[in-house]
Amino acid sequence: MASNNSSRTTDQLPAVPVPILEALADAGASFDLAAAVPEPQDAPALRWGILGAGGIASTFATDVPAFSSGRIVAVGSRDRARAQAFIDAHPDAGGGQAVHAHGSYEALVSDPDVDAVYIATPHNFHCEQALLALEAGKPVLVEKSFTRNAAEARRVFDAARAANLFAMEAMWTRFLPGQVLLRALAGSGALGELRYVRAEHLQSLEHVARLNRLELAGGALLDLGVYSVSFVHSLLGAPTALTAVGRLSETGVDLDESVSMAYPHALAVAVSSMSAASETAGEVVGTRGGVVLPTQFYRPTRLEVILGERPGGAQRYEWDATVPGGFQFEAAEVARCIAAGRTESQTMPWSETLAVLETMDEVRRRLGVTYPGE
Ligand SMILES: NC(=O)c1ccc[n+]([C@@H]2O[C@H](COP(=O)([O-])OP(=O)(O)OC[C@H]3O[C@@H](n4cnc5c(N)ncnc54)[C@H](OP(=O)(O)O)[C@@H]3O)[C@@H](O)[C@H]2O)c1
Repeated sequence: MASNNSSRTTDQLPAVPVPILEALADAGASFDLAAAVPEPQDAPALRWGILGAGGIASTFATDVPAFSSGRIVAVGSRDRARAQAFIDAHPDAGGGQAVHAHGSYEALVSDPDVDAVYIATPHNFHCEQALLALEAGKPVLVEKSFTRNAAEARRVFDAARAANLFAMEAMWTRFLPGQVLLRALAGSGALGELRYVRAEHLQSLEHVARLNRLELAGGALLDLGVYSVSFVHSLLGAPTALTAVGRLSETGVDLDESVSMAYPHALAVAVSSMSAASETAGEVVGTRGGVVLPTQFYRPTRLEVILGERPGGAQRYEWDATVPGGFQFEAAEVARCIAAGRTESQTMPWSETLAVLETMDEVRRRLGVTYPGE
């Protein structure tokens, strides 16, 4: 697909304020935005097959061809007519080329034109479908939560390792410019020692049928809480201890939870709920500064960066990290990794997906949530 300036998403980013760059440099971490967030249009072209013609697949089929070098070549559904209707509803998905409609997931993963499979079904199907694609020789990008639990994720990664194929959880937010700068600030020491992280992901989603069904691994944690927990992990790693409280619905899914995580020198709170909407704020607190994400911590647009010791010695700087689309960054990462012969991404490695799932397994154990067939 031809790219033009409006589809080059990194070109639209404002420069990072100089004092933030100076703070990074003082901490010994020179930061080059263009290198840290490569332009998705410049990634090797990858031909995607979409497995499951549902809600989030629609966003993927829109963002990837519009804002990256990738394009959709095939869509697989349990019903061929649904795959075709999806293709008809996304006329730009193929970048001017015809998109194949498949009436089974087996046919999709066997399509020789498909370079990589994007799995966009409910969580309970992810493990078996990722294994199906890997067995057919196809690398996989699997929607979050990667699988229902850590044991299933290990099965998928073992299969990817054995087949020497790429696999990654579609934690798209880790590749967004706002999260990349935040991790650079937190990881460099520019904020001092991290003492506290909070992430609140509350959305009113009780009306969504899938989320109320325990057999589809519904509930707040695997759809919403995974962002909060993964955000904390991306900054502090796995906790040494945790507690969790929350409410269950009549169908047995978790409506909400508050997860308190302890580290040797820091604390974190990851909150999620499907029964009310919040500002979805986040905050990172260090001994010599912090970052406030007033809204959408998981896909940060406005970063309020505080440099210096509070209350007296601190200055506040803002960076607007708004980009159109969003999924193009993870898709470009997959394309770059596959072209380089890698089986995992350094930004979203297997160990991270496993650690986050281990934390979520423990949260569910404390809440008393078990999915049928686990
Ligand atoms: N990255 C994000 O921002 C984001 C946002 C929302 C959701 N997600 C994730 O994306 C995944 C899918 O969520 P979604 O909201 O897109 O789901 P969805 O629209 O309810 O379902 C997606 C597809 O999965 C298949 N499917 C659904 N229910 C099924 C059932 N009972 N039995 C067998 N197959 C079924 C269907 O595919 P066919 O009928 O075509 O075969 C359906 O079109 C989840 O893991 C979710 O956490 C990510």
